[in-house]
Amino acid sequence: MTDTRGSAATVEAGTADPAFEAAFKDAFGRAPEGAWAAPGRVNLIGEHTDYNDGFVMPFALPQATRAAVARREDGLLRLHSADMDGGVVELRIDDLAPGATEGWARYPAAVLWTLRQAGHPVGGADIHYDSSVPVGGGLSSSAALQVVTALALTELYGVGGLSRQELAVLCQSSENTYVGAPVGVMDQTASACCTEGHALHLDVRGLAQRQVPLDLAAEGLRLLVVDTRVKHAHADGAYGERRAGCEEAAAVLGVPALRDIEPDGLEQALAALPDDRLRRLTRHIVTENARVGQVLALCEAGRTRDIGPVLTAGHASLRDDFQVSCPELDLVVDTALAAGALGARMTGGGFGGSAIVLVDAGDEERIARTVAEALPQARHFSTTPAEGARRLW
Ligand code: GLA
Repeated sequence: MTDTRGSAATVEAGTADPAFEAAFKDAFGRAPEGAWAAPGRVNLIGEHTDYNDGFVMPFALPQATRAAVARREDGLLRLHSADMDGGVVELRIDDLAPGATEGWARYPAAVLWTLRQAGHPVGGADIHYDSSVPVGGGLSSSAALQVVTALALTELYGVGGLSRQELAVLCQSSENTYVGAPVGVMDQTASACCTEGHALHLDVRGLAQRQVPLDLAAEGLRLLVVDTRVKHAHADGAYGERRAGCEEAAAVLGVPALRDIEPDGLEQALAALPDDRLRRLTRHIVTENARVGQVLALCEAGRTRDIGPVLTAGHASLRDDFQVSCPELDLVVDTALAAGALGARMTGGGFGGSAIVLVDAGDEERIARTVAEALPQARHFSTTPAEGARRLW
């Protein structure tokens, strides 16, 4: 397992980056008008709760996707990425339509299409991207791509009156409608709204936000992100099935969403459900929402060390009840715990991607080494909450 801290460049605001600007010029033969960045995220707790109107608590990573952008007046959207093969992708804005775009360019195309559908006066652009968010690591590289595009286009075209949360909702809607993935709003909100040194507590019903101070170092803690570097093929379909199952359970129970089942009503709800599949989905969502509350209370009380067992309980629930873990994630979690981690869980949608591991400062190298011996393909880095999307220059 390699420590990827070196390659996971953090992104500084304020000063232009000549190399990044030169890469834009190489792709498009002119200078960009500005550059923006939007981060990936890890989710501390609250998994699969977002599309159940529940609670989540992600924070932004220092790894981010950058976009250098210049407007065009000829109705074209031209996209280039330092991380993708295939050169410049050229799209006509008038031809954009759900399902009409392939590959990574779907995400920025979806954002432009959705902004225009919503009546915002954004037009064509040349955009060059690069990213330090590991693609396929379950760390929301696609949300970072969407959010950086939305922020850049709305700022360049002078679209006023859109809050960061509204921008995130537009990005989510673009993924739902144009890309065709039924995701919740957590990842885009994290990328757009997180602030340095804080986790973001989000009540998805009503979208009330709370910035929760999270200073791991001050409490003698470290958080490792371990990317298993696997993504199981059935992930997308399985996500939709879980979501549909949750909606089915809520309908049977006669509530708008599973968020409306309180922990003390869980047994009664389980008894009213017709089968074990719906019972397991429901138990995960109800207990996971409760765990978000516990983690919030502990962090706000300066007892972050005590969230370890809550994280681990969240993993067990995702593995056994929601059934979105995989052997590699379980191996990382079990190995880290056996080596003395305070808590560990998969983070994000599951079926591969990354786990987070909470450790005492000083233990991180030893625990990371032990995990590396168990799963040599994995990559890890130690992280702290970083800032959300912003203009760089
Ligand atoms: C993915 C989705 C999010 C959320 C998580 C699971 O990251 O994009 O909306 O549902 O899975 O918590």
